[in-house]
Amino acid sequence: MPLPIKHLTSTKQLSRDDTDAILQVAAEMEEVVEKGGSEMLKGKILAALFYEPSTRTRLSFESAMHRLGGSAVSAVGMQFSSLYKGETIEDTIQVIGQYTDIICMRHPDQGSADTAAGVSPVPFINAGDGPGQHPTQALLDIFTIQKECDKLDGIHITMVGDLKFGRTVHSLSFLLGLYKDVKFTLVSPKELVMPEKVTSFFDERNISYVQTEHLEEGLDADILYMTRVQQERFKDSAEFERLKLKYVLNAKHLKGKKITVMHPLPRIGEIATDVDALPTAAYFREARNGIAVRMALLAMLLGKA
Ligand code: NCD
Repeated sequence: MPLPIKHLTSTKQLSRDDTDAILQVAAEMEEVVEKGGSEMLKGKILAALFYEPSTRTRLSFESAMHRLGGSAVSAVGMQFSSLYKGETIEDTIQVIGQYTDIICMRHPDQGSADTAAGVSPVPFINAGDGPGQHPTQALLDIFTIQKECDKLDGIHITMVGDLKFGRTVHSLSFLLGLYKDVKFTLVSPKELVMPEKVTSFFDERNISYVQTEHLEEGLDADILYMTRVQQERFKDSAEFERLKLKYVLNAKHLKGKKITVMHPLPRIGEIATDVDALPTAAYFREARNGIAVRMALLAMLLGKA
């Protein structure tokens, strides 16, 4: 089932049908992994270009490629790249596209993914462009929500923390907004509220959302989506220090609650480790779901699923 797009830079490109198709292929990919992998992408090479730190996204893309019989080559860190010598993203991507069959890239600048996709001779996937978007994380997040809650229509999600700079919450909001009767509770300090690009999307579509500074007001939802305060986006380190642990979720907050706890990870203290043992702590399962979702995307964008 090929997707009607060549490149994936933003969840705004996806329709509900596209998203449902990706989730369906991802479920099939879980079976492929159970059975020991496949040769579906044999001979195909993924380029993973990471100009910003990453552990799980890069390794899960590479692992997804290997599990489908393909291989991966990586360039990690600005200092190893020709960008550092002054090469433009456009040139880098056009060259890497001569070596490989599909490219994923993480870059600190918002909009860099669109620049890259604009010239890429092979399918291109945004693995995070600064505070912009992180569409593959959003897809694995809704795959997780569907598995944990058995539904997407009617979901009430509370998003907590750095809603301003956190690209995962931006991508996830646009994607969940495709489903019916979804409700958002947005918990953040006033310095880190959800940007207008997302709230205007909610307004246009009559999507229900509430903004608050109090974590306690968000604990009666289906999903509690915690996020890290994005240190690397702050100009003022004192402001980061003041805000970084404004919300620390612990097991006491969750007593008597049914809410499923998610986090794109890494956490830097905003979820206490006493939450980990609760059956509703889903963040490590969420990380695992990234493999099947990225396998689905690689196969679909390469026209093989
Ligand atoms: C997220 C990211 O890079 O935006 N991490 C990830 O890909 N799982 C979240 C974060 O870094 O806070």
